[in-house]
Amino acid sequence: MSISKDIKIYVAGHRGMVGSAIVRQLNTKGFDNLVTRTHEELDLTNQQAVKDFFQEERPDQVYLAAAKVGGIHANNTYPADFIYQNLMIESNVIHQAFQFGVRKLLFLGSSCIYPKIVPQPMSEEALLTGKLEPTNEPYAIAKIAGIKLCESYNRQYGQSHGIDYRSVMPTNLYGPGDNYHPENSHVIPALIRRFHEAWKKSSPEVVIWGTGTPMREFLYVDDMAAASVFVMELDKRLYDQHTDQMQSHINVGFGSDITIRELAETVGKVIGYQGKIIFDMSKPDGTHKKLMNSYRMEAMGWKASTNLIDGLKISYQDYLRKIS
Ligand SMILES: NC(=O)c1ccc[n+]([C@@H]2O[C@H](COP(=O)([O-])OP(=O)(O)OC[C@H]3O[C@@H](n4cnc5c(N)ncnc54)[C@H](OP(=O)(O)O)[C@@H]3O)[C@@H](O)[C@H]2O)c1
Repeated sequence: MSISKDIKIYVAGHRGMVGSAIVRQLNTKGFDNLVTRTHEELDLTNQQAVKDFFQEERPDQVYLAAAKVGGIHANNTYPADFIYQNLMIESNVIHQAFQFGVRKLLFLGSSCIYPKIVPQPMSEEALLTGKLEPTNEPYAIAKIAGIKLCESYNRQYGQSHGIDYRSVMPTNLYGPGDNYHPENSHVIPALIRRFHEAWKKSSPEVVIWGTGTPMREFLYVDDMAAASVFVMELDKRLYDQHTDQMQSHINVGFGSDITIRELAETVGKVIGYQGKIIFDMSKPDGTHKKLMNSYRMEAMGWKASTNLIDGLKISYQDYLRKIS
């Protein structure tokens, strides 16, 4: 059954990288009755403010893409902020959505919910089978709580109130709206910045930490947004067929991974950098492989469509716009 395009949809975190891509995707699909609030207008950690917002707006659907996010350094330095703010945002939004009659909600999690040591590719069943990576454990615990909030409301109120709250776990994302901060950015925006600066200065070489052999998976953010809307719209019978009441989250990955060396070479090519790429083998590599098992998504009929080169070209244009 197709969903009416007039429904009121709240995108929480619409100015973030993922939230803004979800807004683009919804607009492309003809949903234009969107409601948004900036962080300044509505602090989602404030229970009363979230309640007032839902009472006033009464949306039909919610995409929960607001979160306190950050890299290893931020997670290590501010663990209390990461667990507290994320638990509060999720609890407030999910509970008030329920209180004010929202039947469909999509929660955005992260691949860090899976244990540090886990069979690759990481399947949904790996959740809660082992110890988490200590550096972002507080953040991951909050994200696991988000999944469990959705599942618990479905179990308790699914039948009686017709609610259907789902969650998706994205792999590493990149694309427009990314954070290019020199010390606090993910691998793709960090490489874009470094190769662009090396190209501008005609530096003979770019040095990359580690051996270049670790394998990572990357998904273009607009594909993630398409996947989010796909899961939100998915027929309930099909969703139920591929998930379990107490294991309802769905991985969203690209489907394959590449080495850091291949990634660096591809970024260099997109930027037009002609110098050498040197790997500083004395620096640590991190986990050798981190790949999502995206079998559930594929079995339900969705697959990523943007290849790395095309995604990187758009990302580079976004970076150039940001620094101009
Ligand atoms: N980026 C990735 O590679 C990636 C990978 C996997 C999963 N995810 C998940 O996707 C979701 C969105 O990530 P993102 O990359 O889009 O992050 P982002 O760019 O930092 O966006 C997060 C948004 O949430 C807002 N926000 C944070 N705290 C808030 C609060 N207390 N009240 C209201 N708004 C608040 C932020 O506003 P301010 O900036 O104004 O605070 C920002 O607009 C997260 O759940 C993340 O775990 C992202």
